[in-house]
Amino acid sequence: MTAPQTFHIKSFGCQMNVYDGERMAELLVAQGMSAAAERADADLVVLNTCHIREKAVERVYSDIGRIVKDGRREGGSVPLVAVAGCVAQAEGAEIMARAPAVRVVVGPQAYHRLPELVAAAAQGGRATDTDMPAEAKFAALPKRRRSGPSAFLTVQEGCDKFCTYCVVPYTRGAELSRPYGDLVEEAQALVDGGALEITLLGQNVNAWSGEDGTGRATGLDGLIRALADIPALARIRYTTSHPTDMSDALIAAHGEVEKLMPFLHLPVQSGSDRVLKAMNRSHSVASYLALLDRVRAVRPDIALSGDFIVGFPGETEAEFAETLTLVEAAGYAQAFSFKYSPRPGTPAATMDGQVVPAVMDERLQRLQAALQRSSLAFNQSSVGRTCQVLVDRHGRKPGQWLGKSPWLQSVYFEGNSAIGDLVDVELIEAGPNSLAGKIVERVPA
Ligand code: SAH
Ligand code: SF4
Ligand code: F3S
Repeated sequence: MTAPQTFHIKSFGCQMNVYDGERMAELLVAQGMSAAAERADADLVVLNTCHIREKAVERVYSDIGRIVKDGRREGGSVPLVAVAGCVAQAEGAEIMARAPAVRVVVGPQAYHRLPELVAAAAQGGRATDTDMPAEAKFAALPKRRRSGPSAFLTVQEGCDKFCTYCVVPYTRGAELSRPYGDLVEEAQALVDGGALEITLLGQNVNAWSGEDGTGRATGLDGLIRALADIPALARIRYTTSHPTDMSDALIAAHGEVEKLMPFLHLPVQSGSDRVLKAMNRSHSVASYLALLDRVRAVRPDIALSGDFIVGFPGETEAEFAETLTLVEAAGYAQAFSFKYSPRPGTPAATMDGQVVPAVMDERLQRLQAALQRSSLAFNQSSVGRTCQVLVDRHGRKPGQWLGKSPWLQSVYFEGNSAIGDLVDVELIEAGPNSLAGKIVERVPA
């Protein structure tokens, strides 16, 4: 087999995987490869995988099957398949055994070695690297050059929380904060490359810590304040936060740093203290609600987002009902909700009282209905406001644009605009998942 010239990367799972996918693409381009227009044209296909729920893993195996089948049908050339990401980390050996088409397995902390692993596989072998931790990775990646209007920047990796249902501490390893100076430099490069908005990423992003330029210890708030000093950067966001790591200084930043957008993704998972304890979440319903009060005291309009799991082992109907009560009390602008999925090697997978699928389905439907009502109410409360929308896409209709409000709502509007514009828009009509807006014509000064 000759060395691959073109590549296609497909990322599953969280935003950190999207970031990793971008960095892998930059690495391959630096090796002289180019992105294929379509997967079918690629000599190398990288599946950047997610292990969080069983369904996500099944999708990877079905994708591998499809790639092989499509390749054969189109004249016998199956691309070189590399599996990266969290499934690679968790089940590398199993993938190699189950899927002969896979020639490279590379974990999330080792992908800086992707080009050499691909080169080795192109010689006819198979190559694996699932080493941890990540220290070496970032230093070995090429400098950032280009960016869309909204960019991701991973500042923290791994997780030490060990929620009893979750694979992340095993697939991504221990918490690690990237150095302050490197992050300020990467943010500046993203802005120079076109970014107006940067979302700081980490599995526990608010656990980030470092030393600023003067050697003083600082938390995420300090990093946010430093990035706010980059003149051409308009917006800063961060995700995902753990309630226990929400410091006073970070809360204060929400009231003081104008570029920090009024949005907070703060997963709660359940509204039952008994279930939260069994999940090892280290916060209670009361402490979570008290935290929201403190955030809203400095930023009353903050849009709250969350994650929920229904059907955690042992969850009773009454405990599930407490989750619905919490949804009413907290007021979510948006949220993600999932059926509990037992993950191999996690403590919850072998707990008593596994909930049957039909009960989980029914609970998920009720929760999602409550969350939709909550999102609709939030969006309706925005109608009449004028805000800036960062345009990131064409709408479905000609002349229509889609972008994000400061509260991370999807807003569509018509008129003269372009991707990357920050447009003044009046919000005129609300649905649960988006709002219609109207450009506010500015009177020329
Ligand atoms: N670090 C983040 C996100 C972790 S993964 C946090 O702590 O919030 C994203 C979401 O997936 C979690 O918040 C949780 O709601 C969900 N999740 C994680 N493990 C799961 C499992 N085994 N079954 C179902 N949902 C799960
Ligand atoms: Fe998983 Fe919990 Fe860590 Fe989030 S905090 S990544 S849910 S272990
Ligand atoms: Fe999935 Fe790994 Fe992210 S398991 S959610 S891709 S950290």
